[in-house]
Amino acid sequence: MDINKIQNLKNQAISGILEAKSEKELENLRISYLGRKGSLTQILKEIPSLAPEERAETGRLVNDVKKAIEDTLNSQRVTFQQSSSLEKEWLDVTAPGKRPALGHLHLITQTINEITAIFQKIGFKRVRYPEVEWDWYAFEGLNMPKNHPARDEWETFFIENLENKKRGLGILTPHTSSGQLREMEQTKPPLRMLNIAKCYRRQSDASHAPMFYQFEGLVVGKNIAITHLKGTLDYFAKQYFGPNRLTRIRPFHFQFTEPSFEFDVTCIVCGGKGKLTNGQRCKVCKEGWMELGGSGMVHPIVLKNGGIDPNKYTGFAWGWGVERLFMMKYGIDDIRLLFSSDLRFLKQF
Ligand code: DAH
Repeated sequence: MDINKIQNLKNQAISGILEAKSEKELENLRISYLGRKGSLTQILKEIPSLAPEERAETGRLVNDVKKAIEDTLNSQRVTFQQSSSLEKEWLDVTAPGKRPALGHLHLITQTINEITAIFQKIGFKRVRYPEVEWDWYAFEGLNMPKNHPARDEWETFFIENLENKKRGLGILTPHTSSGQLREMEQTKPPLRMLNIAKCYRRQSDASHAPMFYQFEGLVVGKNIAITHLKGTLDYFAKQYFGPNRLTRIRPFHFQFTEPSFEFDVTCIVCGGKGKLTNGQRCKVCKEGWMELGGSGMVHPIVLKNGGIDPNKYTGFAWGWGVERLFMMKYGIDDIRLLFSSDLRFLKQF
């Protein structure tokens, strides 16, 4: 057999493979050399018929050539595959970047931060007290003795098997007013407290959730009067709702304040007129006013229970709903939206 012929075949095959432009072309070359009828396969088939002294040497040579062709085919194939995956990964560095989806603070957290900032500007100190509270701080100490009918309004959750000998049953705090006595125990007057916290009541409808937030203010000092209450809360309403809002206080009753008030602000929808521009009655408010929540001058019994002498000091307090405040500002009529995870709603704030 002609050894040169085999060497030429090898050179031809390898240069062909190195010049191939596609995987398809590589496959055709493989078939033409190594396929069943390929030129190298033909030579391999002839080996058994060679003279014995030629057989071994030719056999070794042909096998070496076969291996060289296969190796070159394989490495070319890998090169093609790498460059095609590089093509897929091609990156246009001049294209504008994609922004990652960015969330934001929940609207209740935003509102809490806003309320805090408004009151901090006038010297209020933000505090936190336990969510699992004793009856004393939420009721008894606030002038609502056991079995007093006023307690019915705070549809309270009780904690099983939790009782303190001096302070009564364990409950989930139903209002932030429980922070009043705790603050008085800790801070000597003059004091300005802002207690923003979760509250719990057995209630659930469009305007009530079993868990909700309140913000409670308490000011105690010498000669604190109703004018301070009115001025402070009017300042807050104008900061939160806008400078054109008017406010008023209306007589009311709470056990822990005397006198007690409801605090109202002019309606955002009709601007306090009670009528829309088309002359129809405004459905959002009562004659131009919306109720923000309760307030009053701290009851002498409550001051005494907090260890403060009511003959020397007076104070005022209020406790309003955070969600209610937010809903009034944006005209939202279902509290459950605030606790849903509907991004179409949440993204608007
Ligand atoms: N704690 C009352 C409630 O949850 C609201 C309240 C009314 C708080 C009058 C006060 C206040 O501090 O003076 O309904």
